[in-house]
Order: sequence, then structure tokens, then C-alpha cells
Amino acid sequence: MQDYIEGIKIAYSGATTTLLISGVAVVLGLVLGLIVALCRTSNVKVLRGIASVYVDVLRGTPLVVQALILYMGLPMLLQSNGIMFTWDTPVIASIIACGVNSSAYVGEIIRSGLQAIDKGQSEAARSLGMSHGQTMKLVVIPQAVKIIIPALGNEFVTLIKETAILSVISVTDITRASMLWASSTFVYFPAYFGTAFVYLTLTIPLSKIMNYVERRMSTDVKS
Ligand code: ARG
Repeated sequence: MQDYIEGIKIAYSGATTTLLISGVAVVLGLVLGLIVALCRTSNVKVLRGIASVYVDVLRGTPLVVQALILYMGLPMLLQSNGIMFTWDTPVIASIIACGVNSSAYVGEIIRSGLQAIDKGQSEAARSLGMSHGQTMKLVVIPQAVKIIIPALGNEFVTLIKETAILSVISVTDITRASMLWASSTFVYFPAYFGTAFVYLTLTIPLSKIMNYVERRMSTDVKS
């Protein structure tokens, strides 16, 4: 029993790092994702092309490989070109890796949210004399937001779990805190039981909040 309590405590010691990385990454992902969605839906062909390659590359390669390229690869590339660069902490590299990775997913979330609104709605708004901007602001975006916000909440939950892979670049998050403890004490089961338990204490409340928000938003549509 003592081992289990210790296992949970050790895992909790990494919770701040996990939440910090996933929290900042989801905001970074949202900002970049908005730009991606704008480019993906733009009238300029080049922008659409660039954005679609960006999304394909980021979704088509594992997050762990992207983190390795950024954290281990980039400093070497820069140094061989005469630029001295090292990461002070793997946390910053992790935030960037997760944020950029997330932006590809968020970009698609936003794009599909906007495209989910029936074309007839904007046609009706335009025929009432609204400008394109007004149509977006008053008709399309308020409805799309109801689809996008819950999906963004899910993205946050996903990121909390995905950050576990950053142990590979030596981030002492929940998973790595447990790994370090397990490999020095050999109490593997209590250690990783604690890991799972701590992730659950973060993801379950968040999913519940997201379900609530989703329900609130969908009743708004009906009223
Ligand atoms: N595990 C997948 C990968 O390594 C998913 C990455 C992150 N997913 C996300 N929705 N941000 O590529």
C-alpha cells in the first residue's frame, strides 16, 4: 500500500510540467491553427498549398520524431552552420513541438467547423445584403464556435496524454518522474499504476467539463 501511495506522489511531482507543456501548447496550437485554417480556406492557391503540406507533414510524422528533430537535431544543424545554439531546457522544445504539432490538428478542427455550417446560411445572409465579413461574424462563426470549442477541449485532453512521449527528450513529466522512480526502486507496478492514476485525475475532470460545455452549447442552438 505504501508503495502505491508513494507511486502516486512521485507521479504527481511531474503533473505541473505535464500541465504546463500541454496548456501552453494548446494555446500555441490554437493561434497557429487559426492561421493554418485561414490559409487552408483562402482564395490564394499558394497559401492553400503551403498550409496543406504543413498539415500533411505534421500529421504524417510521429510527434516523438518531431520532438527529436527539434530538440536533438536542430542544435546540431545550427552548430554545423556556425550558429551556437542549445536548448536550456527540454520543456521549451516540448512546448514548441507539441504546439506546432497540435496546430495541424487544430487547423483542421477549425476548417471543418467552418465548413460544417450549411452554405445556404451564408447565401441567405448575403442575399439579405450582409457583406462577407458580416456574414462570417454574425452567422457562420457563432455557429462554428459551438462545434470548434468542444473539439479544442478534446485536443487539450489529447495533449495531456501525448506529452508522455516527451520523456524521450528527458522532460520530467508525470511519466518520466515515474520511470525514474521505478528504475531506482524496482517497484514497477505501483510506479506505473500511480502514473495512470494521475493522468486519470487530470483527464476525467477535463472531459467532464468539456461534456458540460458541449451540452450547454448545443441547448443554446435549440433555444
Ligand atoms: N500520437 C500521434 C502522433 O504521434 C498524435 C499526435 C498528437 N495529436 C494531436 N491531436 N495533437 O503523431
